[in-house]
Amino acid sequence: MATTNGKVALITGANKGLGKEIGRQLGALGYTVVITARNKQAGEAAAAELVAAGCDAHTVLLEVTNSEDIRGLVSYLETNFGKLDVLVNNAGIALEWDGKPTDADKVRRTLEVNLIAPYAITEALVPLLSRSGDARVINHSSMLGSISNAEKAWDQVATFMAVGYSTSKAGLNMLTVMQSKVLASKGIAVAAAHPGWVKTDLGTQAAPMEVDKGARTVVHLVTIARDQFPHGQLQHNGERMPW
Ligand SMILES: NC(=O)c1ccc[n+]([C@@H]2O[C@H](COP(=O)([O-])OP(=O)(O)OC[C@H]3O[C@@H](n4cnc5c(N)ncnc54)[C@H](OP(=O)(O)O)[C@@H]3O)[C@@H](O)[C@H]2O)c1
Repeated sequence: MATTNGKVALITGANKGLGKEIGRQLGALGYTVVITARNKQAGEAAAAELVAAGCDAHTVLLEVTNSEDIRGLVSYLETNFGKLDVLVNNAGIALEWDGKPTDADKVRRTLEVNLIAPYAITEALVPLLSRSGDARVINHSSMLGSISNAEKAWDQVATFMAVGYSTSKAGLNMLTVMQSKVLASKGIAVAAAHPGWVKTDLGTQAAPMEVDKGARTVVHLVTIARDQFPHGQLQHNGERMPW
């Protein structure tokens, strides 16, 4: 097992895709990784994979919209670690790319998972993050939530824009700014990440970027020196992206 660096990183929705790969990369760097999954077996399988790769990895059941699960997560972290250094709000859904018309139910469910849940989970974890000394919250967002990009590059992105998904990520971008201001006094740094268009179940196999490269934007924000952290920004590959 890799020597641990004493820091605990929690990644939501990490039984597959970008979340699992972020866990693998942070685990290789010595972080103790707690990956959450809404399916217990899927979480255990992913954690076992990371352990086999040499990571100090653990899993917790978390349906991100379930308040009882969130309370259970807080209690698990309190009991086992007594603090949290990194929270990656990664779990996300894109229900509208099935070619069928969007409806209010899809929009509501998307906002619950992609926007309300990151807010609720972060709020619940503030006491544990406050004990870190170098706490970071990274919200996994998307350039599809960039309003200026939608205005400027509509021809390129129009086929991907969907009311629920894009609005949820635009909201997550604003939440990032708000959290960055509000949580600064507690020593918690907050930024948002756009991973690129990445080959995952959500990104589809048509995406040009492999998952190991897609994970790097978040890993960079987790590991960058504290005095260079881009507070409240949306970042991709170490660069600021427009709102
Ligand atoms: N891939 C891209 O091109 C791309 C681009 C921009 C932004 N992003 C963002 O990156 C993040 C990760 O996406 P990905 O591409 O890795 O997608 P993915 O492979 O589909 O993984 C999504 C993860 O979120 C979990 N999840 C979904 N709803 C959940 C819920 N209600 N409770 C708990 N977990 C839930 C999924 O669990 P299950 O396995 O149980 O469904 C899965 O673990 C998302 O926030 C996405 O919006 C991705």
